[in-house]
Amino acid sequence: MVQTHAPVHSVEEIASGIFRLVFRSHELAATAQPGQFVNVKVNDSLFPLLRRPFSIFFVEGDLVSILFNVIGEGTRILVGKKPGDVIDVIGPLGNGFSAAMNSGGYKTAVIVAGGLGIAPFPFFLSKLEKNKNVLSFIGARTANQIVRFGFNRIHIATDDGSEGFSGNVVDLLAEHFSDHRYELPRIFSCGPTRMLKRLSEFTQKKNIACYASLECAMACGIGLCQGCPVETINGKKKYALVCREGPVFETGAVFL
Ligand SMILES: Cc1cc2nc3c(=O)[nH]c(=O)nc-3n(C[C@H](O)[C@H](O)[C@H](O)COP(=O)(O)OP(=O)(O)OC[C@H]3O[C@@H](n4cnc5c(N)ncnc54)[C@H](O)[C@@H]3O)c2cc1C
Ligand code: FES
Repeated sequence: MVQTHAPVHSVEEIASGIFRLVFRSHELAATAQPGQFVNVKVNDSLFPLLRRPFSIFFVEGDLVSILFNVIGEGTRILVGKKPGDVIDVIGPLGNGFSAAMNSGGYKTAVIVAGGLGIAPFPFFLSKLEKNKNVLSFIGARTANQIVRFGFNRIHIATDDGSEGFSGNVVDLLAEHFSDHRYELPRIFSCGPTRMLKRLSEFTQKKNIACYASLECAMACGIGLCQGCPVETINGKKKYALVCREGPVFETGAVFL
């Protein structure tokens, strides 16, 4: 983990209202793993005081990207960054998808992402062993909010029916799995907690291993403030910290 003052390389809108910010950091790029995150201090004034966590979206050479939409003060400041501005970044943080993606026992990697939950997967796919089959299910509110960067075969669900399946991405996945057979699937997911809960129910019923990156409000991002607990199911401890033990958990191991 490093703390670095990273120069911004670019900020661009890559889908409607969804921005990719690219910054340069050799140390971060060299050590980041899929599913890890960075904690960003968006400016050097006292407000906003807290850092904001973002999944690592992509790494290419020394360039690291994050993906976000503007929801509050922190992301409003980030979207106004210009090339050459400097951001204070701590990372890479947390336990990402590496253990689950690199352990044996599966042949088909199934990505299930809802909304900004697609953020960790372009980097994930760039690191996945080439001998795996890959299937990606992406859910968005509407067609122009679908981020396709880094994906190949995508099955799309939109809430308003403007592209692909009309409805949510877990229903699309369930429909797909009732019609097709896949050899030794393992699911990797990220999205709103409501979606992850439904996905967890589906995968437990089907007996498919499922790993998800969880989101919650965070402060320190490094296990000090105890502000990001998730309740475990049959764990040694009653709670795990999303920032330190996660953000990726096997969905059957935590209460969503
Ligand atoms: C491990 C991790 C990875 C993340 N990765 C991404 C990412 O790749 N892209 C992205 O856009 N966002 C991501 N998030 C969420 C992101 O950190 C928040 O969207 C961001 O902090 C918003 O900052 P803000 O100052 O713009 O909004 P704020 O002013 O902090 O928040 C605006 C509103 O959104 C609510 N809110 C803030 N954060 C969250 C949250 N995590 N869950 C639910 N409600 C929230 C607040 O309660 C408030 O009502 C991630 C969160 C975590 C924990
Ligand atoms: S955010 Fe402080 S312990 Fe997790």
